[in-house]
Order: sequence, then C-alpha cells, then structure tokens
Amino acid sequence: MGFNPYEIRKDFPVLERVIDGKRIVYLDNAATSQKPKQVIEAIREFYEKYNANVHRGLHTLSQEASEAYEKAHEVVAHFINAYSWEEVVFTYNSTDSLNKIAFQWGLKNLREGDEIILTVMEHHSNMLPWRAVARLKGAKIKYVDITDDGLLRYDQLEEMVTERTRVIAVTLMSNVLGTINDVRRIARLAHSVDAIIVVDGAQGVPHLPVDVRSLEIDFLAFSGHKMLGPTGIGVLWGRRDRLEEMDPLISGGGAIKDVTLEGVEWQDLPWRFEPGTPNIAGGIGLAAAVEYLIRVGMENIRRHEEELTAYTLKRFFEELGEEIEYYGPRDARLKGGVIAFNVKGLNHHIVGKSLDMFGIAVRTGMHCAHPLHYRLGIKGTVRASYYLYNVKEDVDALIEALKTISKLKSALSSGEAPETCTGT
Ligand SMILES: Cc1ncc(COP(=O)(O)O)c(C=O)c1O
Repeated sequence: MGFNPYEIRKDFPVLERVIDGKRIVYLDNAATSQKPKQVIEAIREFYEKYNANVHRGLHTLSQEASEAYEKAHEVVAHFINAYSWEEVVFTYNSTDSLNKIAFQWGLKNLREGDEIILTVMEHHSNMLPWRAVARLKGAKIKYVDITDDGLLRYDQLEEMVTERTRVIAVTLMSNVLGTINDVRRIARLAHSVDAIIVVDGAQGVPHLPVDVRSLEIDFLAFSGHKMLGPTGIGVLWGRRDRLEEMDPLISGGGAIKDVTLEGVEWQDLPWRFEPGTPNIAGGIGLAAAVEYLIRVGMENIRRHEEELTAYTLKRFFEELGEEIEYYGPRDARLKGGVIAFNVKGLNHHIVGKSLDMFGIAVRTGMHCAHPLHYRLGIKGTVRASYYLYNVKEDVDALIEALKTISKLKSALSSGEAPETCTGT
C-alpha cells in the first residue's frame, strides 16, 4: 500500500479530539510530535508485563527488560545506518546529547586558542553548551551568517575554517527557517583541517532519511519526542573512535566494569555513557516509534512534507502575499516542513492565540533561537510545522484562518499579547 496520511491519522488517538466543536489541526510538530498507538502500547506492555531494572538482575523480568532495551539501541542504529549499535548512547533529549558531546569531548580535546564554528541559525541547545566549554578552555567561537533567503553562507564558512578550527557544530534542519544544511559538504570541510563535525539532528532526523555514514559526520544528536517517541529519551550517536576520545563526565552505577578506592575501569560502549538507571520505557517506546517510521518510509515522509510545504508557500504568496512576512527559503526542496511567518501589523502571540480559536495549534515566539530572530530584526514569529499525519486540509484550514485574522486586523491589533507567552 502506498503512503496515505489519512490512514496514518487513524493510528494517532489525539488527532480524533474535538475542541469547542472543532477538529484539532496540529501544526506544532517541530515542538513535539503526537504518538501513535503502537508506541503507547509498547510502553504499556513494558510496564504491565516485564518491568524490571536493566543489566542488574539475573531474573527473567530483568533479562527481558535488558534485551528489549539493548534491542532498542540496535533499532536506532539501523535507522541512522550507524556502524554498530554500540555507538548509540541513550540520553534524555537533544539538549542533553549536545551538552554531553560539548562537555565530554570538548573538555578533553579543546585547547586555548582553538576555534569552534557555529551558525546564526542554531537552536540555543547547540549554541550555549559550546559557549560554556569555550569559556572554560579559552577557545573562540565564530558564527556563520545566512543569506537573505535563509540559506547558510557556505562562502563565509569556507573562509572561516582554518588550522585552528577544531569543531563545526551545525543543525541539519533549522527549527525556524526550515533550511536543510548540506552537512556532508560541511563534514568534508571540517575534516580537511582535522576538525570534528557535530550535527544537531533534532529537526532533521524525524523528517529526513539520515545516514550517518554517507553524511560523513562525527556526532549526531536527536530527541525521541519529536519523532513519535516518548519524552525523556534522546540519542547521542558518535563514531566509535570519537566516543573513545571522550571521558564520562557524569558517572556512577552501570557505567563501570570495576572500581577500586584508587581508580575506575569504564564499561564498554555505550554503557559507560549511560550511568544510573536509564529511561527503559523511553528506550522501548523510541524503538517502537522508529519501527513505525521505518514501516512508513522516511523517503515517503520527506516527499509528503515537501508537497505540503510547496502547497503552503504557493498559497501564502498567491493569496496572502501582501498580508504576510515569510522567513526562510522559498523553494520547498531546500527546506523541511517548518513555516515561520508574521501577519503584518499583528503581534505573533496574538496570531497564535487567534489560530487556537480556529482549532489550529502553532508555536509563537523566538523558538529557542533568539540570535536568529535578532539577525532577522524581529521579536518573534508564528511557526507552523508539519509531520506525516498532516493533510492538505490542515494547510487549507491555516490559510483560511489567516485570511480571517488578517481581515480582523484592526480589531485584533488593539489587544494585548497574552500574558502567558514568554517570548521564548
Ligand atoms: C534544532 C533543535 N535543536 C535542539 C532542540 C532541543 O530539543 P530538546 O528540547 O528535545 O532537547 C530543538 C527543539 O526544539 C531543536 O529544534
């Protein structure tokens, strides 16, 4: 059977909800995705049938839990085409993975005067950990700019890379502009000066086919909750030799082979980087999510989101052109299903709150990318973001609601932005 988002929707119980007589139009997938019943069921089954701690018991329940938790690493490894499941470390989310890469690799391998290259489109989670490590080690941060179309300035990046460059940390897909970066090109540039490339895959991995070998990268971070999995589980993938270059920063039970009063012998990969009781149910739920994505096919998901994006942009420019300020590449082939915009003359929070009255869930604010918004000269955006279960009717609902909101502009613009909005 071919890809059918209407059939896929039936697996997502929350999409059946009706609020104030309106069906939910969920366009906040870049913040977190909805969960299919297969994932919910896998977690329920763990707690009902074989809940036990992992790697600590010889009894049947513990062995079953350990087996399922280990298999989850294999499923994720297969999904991103890792060289081995031992390169897959479970963390809590992308933020946790990126901090662990920055601190565990950076503290050990960076020296005074080294340079770290970031981009102005990075999420705070791929910016602040590097800045903290740079401060501690006396390293310098450089930022690559974007073009007016929201694409990375590769010309500037090429000039920036020198013998001092030790790290290039870049997002696979911008969570605001939707821009998909040419990570392999950046990896080759990094390796030409013996630097490492760290990829923030929080937005890219859920929506694009990702193959860590063909991308030629060193590290990848992503979150389970943005790809149909539960919250509280994330992935840090590293090439084995890079993981071997790191020492555990957080340690304790489960991370060691032996401890004496004088020393410690670390456990094999990946366990030395997963100290303490891990999120077992989360790992099992993530594996169920990945199996679901593999069944649907990442190529199909990408094609579907590209079609929805192209359709949205076409209707935006043809029907709302004068009313809307759009940010990001205008060619859907260059971006993911993330549409950031403003309705001219209206605060982004007012637009978001108004869309909620039509049953449409979007995110408003600066999306944890304040420097990017300052670069664009704005204080926030409205962001609609798609996933495999969104359909053309969701886009139509968004466009029609925006037309109405735009017509009511003068009435709405006199209102205050809701107090609950923090602008983050
Ligand atoms: C590009 C990007 N990086 C990192 C993160 C952080 O993800 P998490 O909150 O799951 O740690 C996000 C979340 O929105 C993101 O969009």
